This record gives sequence, structure tokens and C-alpha cells, in this order.
Amino acid sequence: QTGKFTFDPGFMSTAACESKITYIDGDKGELLYRGYPIEQLAQHCDYLEICYLLLNGELPNEEQRRDFDYRVTHHTMVHEQMTRFFQGFRRDAHPMAVLVGCVGALSAFYHDSLDINDPEHRFVSAIRLIAKMPTLTAMAYKYNTGQPFMYPRNDLSYSANFLRMMFGTPCDEYKPNDVLVRALDRILILHADHEQNASTSTVRLAGSSGANPFACIAAGIATLWGPAHGGANEACLIMLDDIQKQGGVEKIGEFIDKVKDKNSGVKLMGFGHRVYKNYDPRAKLMRETCHEVLGELGLHDDPLFALAMKLEQIALEDDYFVQRKLYPNVDFYSGIVQKAMGIPTSMFTCIFALARTVGWIAQWGEMIADPDQKIGRPRQLFTGKTPREVQTIDKR
Ligand code: SDX
Repeated sequence: QTGKFTFDPGFMSTAACESKITYIDGDKGELLYRGYPIEQLAQHCDYLEICYLLLNGELPNEEQRRDFDYRVTHHTMVHEQMTRFFQGFRRDAHPMAVLVGCVGALSAFYHDSLDINDPEHRFVSAIRLIAKMPTLTAMAYKYNTGQPFMYPRNDLSYSANFLRMMFGTPCDEYKPNDVLVRALDRILILHADHEQNASTSTVRLAGSSGANPFACIAAGIATLWGPAHGGANEACLIMLDDIQKQGGVEKIGEFIDKVKDKNSGVKLMGFGHRVYKNYDPRAKLMRETCHEVLGELGLHDDPLFALAMKLEQIALEDDYFVQRKLYPNVDFYSGIVQKAMGIPTSMFTCIFALARTVGWIAQWGEMIADPDQKIGRPRQLFTGKTPREVQTIDKR
């Protein structure tokens, strides 16, 4: 006997949230940050300009840009005590596990002096998170490799600083290649925000209780880790590697048959989207970046890229995918670009989290600033047992 319930249509209207930050048209494949099309932003701006735009609603002028850069750059170091926090993890811990823990731990360093109802305090916590995420992300990678942590440098751009903290060592003067710096900046821009996706919704729900922003962002990182969400770029590379091992392009037909077999549970990672029922505009831009990086590094005959192009071509022509409106999403090409850049697959989702931190904290700030916001309380449709009497154990 299951529960009887009447469906309240008003229930769904309370499920949506209002925001001025990001607009998506899934049918047209459109994405706008604060009204600007992603294609124009990717062409004319760098990631810190996008951060300023998402937080403040407008693109910065020269002076605003210099001030914002200075504030972010001068918050990139983490409290030295944080370096000991890493020691508690096994060396082979997944970098996402380390990142969730360390970002949550920032609450212990910065939260008690924070009044989230003060707009300046909210902006300072946003600056701290945007500034410290590259440092913590690179530290998670260094800890995993056993190499020493690299301190940030104030004379490098945001993306160049991150690449140096990832790949530099105290023994050499690592100078990141400009194409790789631009490619990373493009990856960060394309992943910066995406309306009310699963991890952003988590950050909003956590924030609606008044939890501090560092704890809320840690909750967002945990949600992003799932393979159906931000973990898809890592899962996509694992999928391409598996197909490669089983014979590569010649074996694609067998793999596609497995994807079509519902019982196999096999998904075409990097394809499909809850909202886009057209080509993800970010995937198109990521594909361009992929070409640029592979061309610059002389990897154009990279078998994985050739395999990815073949997979995309088949999926765009095959009725199974066309009927279900399954197009490549941002994760399909971002994994290949990062692999070409020498970033290990275990770091792909960490870099997605790095990029999305500004979107999360902008959406969190928008919610906290709303005087009418209340604690989130999703309702349920009860389908369980109707009320019944407890039987004493001798009668059960
Ligand atoms: C991100 O929300 C966001 O904005 C997220 C994100 C962001 O920026 O925050 O864009 C980032 O998470 C991108 C998505 C990354 N995930 C993946 O690439 C994993 C593979 N994709 C799927 O798991 C899936 O497409 C989802 C989870 C993304 C969407 O799942 P849905 O909502 O179930 O997809 P759907 O309703 O469009 O599915 C329609 C049909 C179903 O089959 P039928 O029941 O109709 O027969 O298509 C099937 C699905 O089973 N399907 C797939 C598939 N995706 C959907 N079949 C094979 N391979 C796939 N990838």
C-alpha cells in the first residue's frame, strides 16, 4: 500500500530560482554571461575580466581591471598552516578529495571574521576564493606527485601563475608557453558559470542556511566531482583510452552498439546535457582551442584526438543520438585539450572546480544579497506507506 498524494502545481514554481547572472537557451545552444555571448567573451576577454563581470554585472574598465588584478594577485598565498593540512591525506588520494577537504578547511582560517551580510565582506571572500583556488589546486597536484609546493608569483598572470605552480619546480625557471596560457584561460572562461547546474544549486542550498562561503564552495566541489557532472571530462578521457586499447577507430562501431544497449549502462561521456538539446556553444569553442593546442604542440595526429573527431562525427550522424538530441558538451574536448597540455586526467575536474568557483561565489552572493531569500527547503512527493499500527515483536 503506497501513499496517496495530490500533486500541487505550485510546488514546481517554487523549485526555480531567479538570477541575473547567466542565461542559457538549450534549444538554440546559446550561453550568455551578464548578457554577453560566450563567443565574444572568449574572443575579447581573459578569465579575470570574466570574474569581475560575473561578480559585478559589468566588464571592468582599465582602472577597475588593475585594482581587481592587484587584489586577486595579493591574496593568492594560503595560510602556511594549510600546507600541514595536506599531510593528513594519502599521497595517492584523488586530488578532488584533497580539494574538497582543503577548501572546506579555509573556513577555519577566514570565516570567523566574516559577516556575510556585509557586501564588502562578501566581495573579500570572493576575492580570496578566486585567488586561492589555483594555489590549492596546484598544491593538490604537487602533493600527489611528491614534488614540493610552489608559491604563487605576483609578476605572472592568473593562468600563467597556475601553470607555473603546477609544472614548475624550485630547481628550474618554468616559463609557461603563451599558447598553453591562452588555452587554460579559455578553459577557465568556458567553465566559469552555467546557471543552476547541480553544483551551483548545491552552493545555493548550502548558502541559504547561512553557512560560510568556504563551506558552501566545498559542497559545490563535492557535487561537481560526479561523472554525470564535472567528472565527465575525466570519464571521457578514460572512455577514449579504453576504446583506444580495444583497437581504436576500428572498434568504434562495437562501442557505439554498447552505448545503444540500455542494459550495458555504458554512456558516451562528454555527450548529452540536461539543458542543451543542441550543440553546447562551449564545446565548439573548446574544439577550436583543441585544434590550436594540438597544432602548437605538433600533436595533431594524436590518436585520441582523431578518435574523438570520429566519435563526434558518428554521433552527429547516428539516429540514436540525433533523436535523443545528444550533442558534444563542454567536457568532450576539455579533457583532450588538458591531456595535450600535460595535465593528468585526475586533475581535470579540479580545474573545472577552479574555473567554476567564480560562478558559484557570484550565485551565492546574489542569493545572500536578496533580502527576501529564505532557507531552501525542497518539498517531496511522498510515495511511502500510509499510517499503520506497530505490532509487538512477538506478532511480527
Ligand atoms: C556538465 O547542468 C549543467 O549545466 C552541467 C554542466 C555545467 O557547466 O555545469 O554543463 C557540466 O555536467 C555537462 C554534462 C557532463 N556529463 C556527461 O557528459 C556525462 C554523459 N552525459 C549523460 O550522463 C547525460 O547526458 C546527462 C547526465 C548530462 C544528462 O542526462 P539526461 O538528462 O538523462 O539526458 P537526457 O534526458 O537528455 O537523455 C535522453 C536520452 C536518455 O535515453 P532514453 O531513456 O530516452 O532512451 O539520452 C540518453 C538517456 O539515457 N543519454 C545518453 C547520454 N546522455 C543521455 N545515452 C548515451 N550517452 C549519453 N551521454
